[in-house]
Amino acid sequence: MNVTIVGAGHVGLVTGACLAEIGNEVVCVDNDQKKIEMITRGHMPIYEPGLPELVARNMQTGRLRVTTSMEEGVRHALVIFVAVGTPPKPDGEADLSYIEAVAREVARYMDGYRVVSEKSTVPVQTGQWVDRTIRLNNRHAVEFDVVSNPEFLREGAAIYDFMYPDRIVVGAGSARAAEIMRELYEPIINRSFSGCECSLEKDGPAQFVVTDVKSAELIKHASNSFLAMKISFINAVAAVCELSGADVTMVAKGMGYDRRIGPEFLRAGAGYGGSCFPKDVAAFRKISNSLGYEFKLLDEVARINHSQRDLVVQKIKKALWIIRGKTIGVLGLSFKPDTDDMREAPSVDIIRALQADGARVRAYDPHATGEASHYLQDVEFCSDPYAVARDADTLLLMTEWDEFKRLDMPRVKSTMNYPILVDARNMLDPVEMRAIGFEYVAIGRP
Ligand SMILES: NC(=O)c1ccc[n+]([C@@H]2O[C@H](COP(=O)([O-])OP(=O)(O)OC[C@H]3O[C@@H](n4cnc5c(N)ncnc54)[C@H](O)[C@@H]3O)[C@@H](O)[C@H]2O)c1
Repeated sequence: MNVTIVGAGHVGLVTGACLAEIGNEVVCVDNDQKKIEMITRGHMPIYEPGLPELVARNMQTGRLRVTTSMEEGVRHALVIFVAVGTPPKPDGEADLSYIEAVAREVARYMDGYRVVSEKSTVPVQTGQWVDRTIRLNNRHAVEFDVVSNPEFLREGAAIYDFMYPDRIVVGAGSARAAEIMRELYEPIINRSFSGCECSLEKDGPAQFVVTDVKSAELIKHASNSFLAMKISFINAVAAVCELSGADVTMVAKGMGYDRRIGPEFLRAGAGYGGSCFPKDVAAFRKISNSLGYEFKLLDEVARINHSQRDLVVQKIKKALWIIRGKTIGVLGLSFKPDTDDMREAPSVDIIRALQADGARVRAYDPHATGEASHYLQDVEFCSDPYAVARDADTLLLMTEWDEFKRLDMPRVKSTMNYPILVDARNMLDPVEMRAIGFEYVAIGRP
């Protein structure tokens, strides 16, 4: 099928490369000329495992092309995915101006029937506005359908998640559009593309959920808000654990074996970050409010999440007594491992708060220091984790990269000024760390 993706970012480029991989002719359009030049030269604008190889392979075969030309993209495709950003405004409302701009441009160049698919995360009823915008700018009066096809991939595991999803959600107002979307996703639904690591007998097909457009839009906001709620819930439980002397990792383990609850997203720590959960919780709350439902539960989810950042700072203060003049070494900066995404990373607020109290900060991240330098000032970025620890008064583990699980911790401790280790992700073994001689501090566990 001929497919175009507008927006070649985390979601758009992965979607484009994966759809090309399963045999479609894909054009990715982005209005950021530098990004398009980079991709053309074989350099990825983001760190995502497996993406450089996937993009290179499909560009070589000619099934994947990138361009800045909307006209080329719109003329090429039967299905046009809109995967541009929907960032938060200061009051939490989703900024849909990029979506509107793309809808107008799509309408301008459409020369025949098109399916325009919302891939970006958008508030409920956005589809109505996209439909109206295209209708008002539809010069050639061609037929079109607007569908909602939210994306559930996780940065760091984006290719796997796209190729092996639990479910594919399509909100469509017409059977024709729903059928086209089903045909496009058929190899992924039936796990029948070449190189597929799943078998239908073992894993079953991906669920293909067809709904109306509004319900599909809501599925995405409700899913992300629910996952964020799980994280805030376990962080609240962690607070009770600290007050009572229980261990939140044990509590989470015991809860997670219940299939109705499940073990995922029950890790207490510094809280969620990234480009999705914080903004989607805020946008869901905002749209609910404007429709007339005050979603106070979501206020509390966000409040607990933010308080985790303060908690980490308080723990460092408690361990160090005086922050001024001390050196804090930070291991990990990105909001989670396997990505260089620094958007809403808890490390940023925590480092700024420590600096405001007079700390010197050194940091190491396997992939995110380049990005982090746009968010942080006066941080000494080191090229390896041992350099971060040298003469540090506290070591703060902020991101659970695999690399940190393999560190020679006795060596780390031997070069530190004070052996204080604050594990903001509960990644390390407290017994082991204390046996090495660390003063080990974690979240919600003794
Ligand atoms: N990042 C994730 O993990 C993730 C997961 C699921 C859903 N989403 C949602 O997907 C959407 C995109 O997120 P992202 O992380 O890929 O964003 P991103 O910032 O990485 O990419 C967006 C791209 O759109 C381009 N763009 C903006 N306006 C354009 C226009 N008029 N024409 C062409 N290109 C344009 C930008 O230059 C940028 O490259 C958001 O709504 C997000 O909430 C993101």
